[in-house]
Amino acid sequence: MRQAGRYLPDYIKLRKQYDFFTRVQTPELACEITLQPIDQIGVDAAIIFSDILVIPQAMGMEVLMEEGKGPLLPKTIQNAADVEALICDTAETNGHLQYMAASLKMTREALAGRVPLIGFAGAPWTLLCYMVEGKGSKTFDKAKAFCYTQPEAAHALLGKITDVTIAYLNMQAASGADLVQVFDSWSGMLSPEDFRIWALPYLQRIVDGVKGNVPVILFPKGSWYALEELSTTGAAGLGIDWTVTPALARRLTDNRVTLQGNFDPAKLLAPIPQIQQSVKEMIHAFGPQRYIANLGHGILPNVPVDHARAFVDAVKEWHA
Ligand code: CP3
Repeated sequence: MRQAGRYLPDYIKLRKQYDFFTRVQTPELACEITLQPIDQIGVDAAIIFSDILVIPQAMGMEVLMEEGKGPLLPKTIQNAADVEALICDTAETNGHLQYMAASLKMTREALAGRVPLIGFAGAPWTLLCYMVEGKGSKTFDKAKAFCYTQPEAAHALLGKITDVTIAYLNMQAASGADLVQVFDSWSGMLSPEDFRIWALPYLQRIVDGVKGNVPVILFPKGSWYALEELSTTGAAGLGIDWTVTPALARRLTDNRVTLQGNFDPAKLLAPIPQIQQSVKEMIHAFGPQRYIANLGHGILPNVPVDHARAFVDAVKEWHA
């Protein structure tokens, strides 16, 4: 899940020395940050340190990460001409993203087979949200208005993001990612009907374009209504957030895919014995087969390190 590193003191130290995209684009730093939770918390997979917004950057947009505030894209996409001006030549975008290939290779070597390495990208709908809105939003109404009022331009944008993302994920597979995860963090903002129009077809294209090279996990946050359809896309796994019961997720996906999740990240703020009990209940409810124990979204920055470790230990100590 996102930001395995942001609550760790060693990460916070590096944050004072280098700005966000320097950390992302310097393979030595990205590698070091990726390894921190492996060494310090004992998780059994590494997710490469990067961000989903490197794709808009590679397509020619300026992206700033404001300390404590989140991402800012000063010049947003507003019309068909803006979409037209974006770079979508995949040789060029992958050229811009070579640091990711280098980070993955370096990290894979440093891991020496200890744990698998996970690559990732943002889903087209979620990236459209940031590219049109320019920042985070409670409603992403500007992004939706763009889709509803300029549907052709919106589909053209989603199509371009999809092409660039497929090439990017295949480059990650070729550089040593054992698995790739696609974050549709804002898919739950869409009604089931709109999800079918603005999210699903592009997720399907990504799975089709990548799954022959590397297994894909889709994380459609908030879109429990789409789990059944998503389980037939050919994705190897689905990430589940904590608003869905394990029983419902299993019923909707009928053992076609592996499920990952779904601990409420804020529950890591509970006393440790309560974390241990909730982890047991979660694994029992999903069942230990075709299951990746994880949080239901990214870790929060205010989680005490020993609470994160307690979660991981409780998973490893689980037995039926
Ligand atoms: O373990 C890791 O750190 C993995 C690397 C990772 C980051 N971002 C680093 C990061 C991953 C997998 C992401 C994905 C990401 N980025 C998503 C999808 C997953 C999700 O949680 O929904 C999204 C929506 C983003 C966009 C983004 N990046 C936002 C909204 C923010 C700012 C707000 C926040 O939550 O901190 C970021 C910044 C960011 N990306 C940080 C990190 C470690 C925090 C900045 C910092 O602490 O230096």
